[in-house]
Amino acid sequence: MFSNKNRSRAVLAVLALSLGGGLVAQAQNAPAPGAARQAAEERRAAFKLVGANFRPLGALLKEGGQYDAADAKKRIARLVFLSGLLPEVFPDISNLGEPDSKAKPEVWTNRSDFDQALKKFQTDLVTLQEVNDKEQALSEPFKTALTTVAQDCKACHDNFKLK
Ligand code: HEC
Repeated sequence: MFSNKNRSRAVLAVLALSLGGGLVAQAQNAPAPGAARQAAEERRAAFKLVGANFRPLGALLKEGGQYDAADAKKRIARLVFLSGLLPEVFPDISNLGEPDSKAKPEVWTNRSDFDQALKKFQTDLVTLQEVNDKEQALSEPFKTALTTVAQDCKACHDNFKLK
């Protein structure tokens, strides 16, 4: 038979095992604390830069827009780069409902449509880059490619971003 001392050791060991198992199971199911918050912060930071770099390009579609080849090239390259980061800032865990996030729940409930919108945005930016490199001017093909990108922003915001 166990001595009293040995029995309490055995009980402690069983407790430790079951607690440890519980923690492991929890770690597998639940996100690390703060991970959703961090994803939301990275997402807003990425979109802030997207917004800041798109603004001068969007202005080219308005009356009196002044095209600057070096500036357009630089900003489009940044947008292509930033669009490549976007798939990583919408991890599955982010649908836990970050209070400060403007992302609609549809990003997660309608994931394949969202991923498609993201993919289209990336593809249309690469097209804009190619057209810009070729045209080097505020030409009709350039304006068309730029308009397509602007429509991608709006379409995705209508479907997936809160006002
Ligand atoms: C595939 C979807 C999608 C596309 C394309 C997209 N956005 Fe967004 N955007 C979002 C979502 C979702 C948010 C909200 C993110 C959050 O708050 O968690 C957002 C947020 C923003 C914000 C707010 C950032 C902040 O300060 O919190 C700006 C600015 C922005 N987008 C600009 C743009 C511009 C400009 C384009 C096009 C060049 C664009 N977005 C294209 C989905 C998209």
